[in-house]
Amino acid sequence: MTSDLFPAAALATLKQAYPNTPCRIGHGLIGHPLLALDSLAELAGTLPADSVEHNLGAMPIGIDPQDIPASDLGIVETIRTIDESKSWAVLKRIEQDPRYAELLGSVLAQLEPVVRPRTGPMLELEGFVFISSPGSITPFHFDPEHNVLLQLRGSKTMTVFPAHDDRLADPRIHEAFHLGQHHRNLPWQDEFGAAGQAMTIEPGEALYVPVKAPHWVKNGPEVSISLSVTWRSEWSFAEADARAFNHMLRGLGLSPASPAPFPNRNLAKSLGHRAIRKLRGGLGR
Ligand SMILES: [Fe+2]
Repeated sequence: MTSDLFPAAALATLKQAYPNTPCRIGHGLIGHPLLALDSLAELAGTLPADSVEHNLGAMPIGIDPQDIPASDLGIVETIRTIDESKSWAVLKRIEQDPRYAELLGSVLAQLEPVVRPRTGPMLELEGFVFISSPGSITPFHFDPEHNVLLQLRGSKTMTVFPAHDDRLADPRIHEAFHLGQHHRNLPWQDEFGAAGQAMTIEPGEALYVPVKAPHWVKNGPEVSISLSVTWRSEWSFAEADARAFNHMLRGLGLSPASPAPFPNRNLAKSLGHRAIRKLRGGLGR
């Protein structure tokens, strides 16, 4: 049932947009038994603790990581009672279960003919499932991966912002993120709102979200289940390396320019960072 997940029109739309522009496309994954609530609750009970996360879903758009309210329920119970637990749960790297690895592989294989000619091989393939209560909010944040979010149940509205706007996410935050020093949530200011594009997806629709495009998400009035299929590219790794290199330049008192959008490969800074990392490794640091 996963042999023809994306209609030709969906792949044509993605081909126009990828990798810099968000777009909405159709998909045929609704009703897959591995993505039903019971199956997901069962999966949650088998994944390691660092691969599951759940919070109360009644949050503002912008929130400091330490202010995120904790939930009393465990992950399995949160998912089983998601219609009333006012929560948000995520199952990370679902490919740890071979059945989900097969599913993820078959979804990504159908995107590859569009992706590979633009950004090269799909690297570090990972899948995430988001299960959320009616009306819950995922605060303003960015992610380092190319991401297609497939809606399976309920609806959600993602407000997506441009990826390369330093006013929305300070370059120092990008740099700290790649050095493992910053939570993915971003500081929110109400005046950012006008720069966002609100895109609603219903079951059978998917959203492509570009690397580092800030976004926040509001669930519709029903329980929502979404599958996120993600990959990295040589270009996205170079962007991350350039950010880390900029951090070093800033430490030397310089004010480096932010990495340029695709198709610029940010090659010099990326190679510079990789050379320094190698040198430090050689020196035992
Ligand atoms: Fe995200």
